[in-house]
Amino acid sequence: MRERLDERHPMPLRRIDPGARLVVASHNPGKVVEIEALLAPYGIATVGAAALGLPEPEENGATFEDNAALKARAAADASGLPSVADDSGLVVPALGGAPGIYSARWAGEFKDFRVAMERVRRELGEKDRSAHFVAVLALAGPDGGMITFRGEVHGRLVFPPRGERGFGYDPIFVPDGGDLTFGEMDPAEKHRISHRARAFAKLVEACLALR
Ligand code: IMP
Repeated sequence: MRERLDERHPMPLRRIDPGARLVVASHNPGKVVEIEALLAPYGIATVGAAALGLPEPEENGATFEDNAALKARAAADASGLPSVADDSGLVVPALGGAPGIYSARWAGEFKDFRVAMERVRRELGEKDRSAHFVAVLALAGPDGGMITFRGEVHGRLVFPPRGERGFGYDPIFVPDGGDLTFGEMDPAEKHRISHRARAFAKLVEACLALR
């Protein structure tokens, strides 16, 4: 199945029409700008949740899908506009899926990913180094419609961390078929194959038409 419908809201949101205004349900200005740029070629205007004065819901879901959906739902309900949200993280099967939805929290209050990467190394020890990044985009309609799209990129972890070009866990992740970490790779190349790009491609295919 290419996409999952939220079972609590079985009515799918199928099309975002050119000319529509979409809320980007994030208080992270970088993310709002990134999603705005991705949607602009489809004639979709965006507005950030913070610009509308929307509250930031607590991310208390058990899955990436839950967290993306609860952010999109909160923004759609509060604004009366279709809303998009994302949630992402690093999944290490040998750690039972950790850090997973807690990827940002592993970096602590100072958002220091050296700490988070060192924790992954310590907890992993000699266990299997397979890992993948996950990104889920959720699109919520004010009418209750909800649809989510998941993108993944698989690879392996390397230590010590290498490269200064990315963010988060990029310096310890080498995608399948390559030798460079996401932290060493040309950012354009990372964006071509990333979990976020894959989730977004699914959303575009399902819901958007190029003008
Ligand atoms: P959120 O999606 O903003 O809740 O946070 C996701 C967290 O997952 C980020 O803070 C990063 O730690 C991690 N993460 C997600 N995508 C990437 C990526 O492309 N590279 C490195 N780390 C990532």
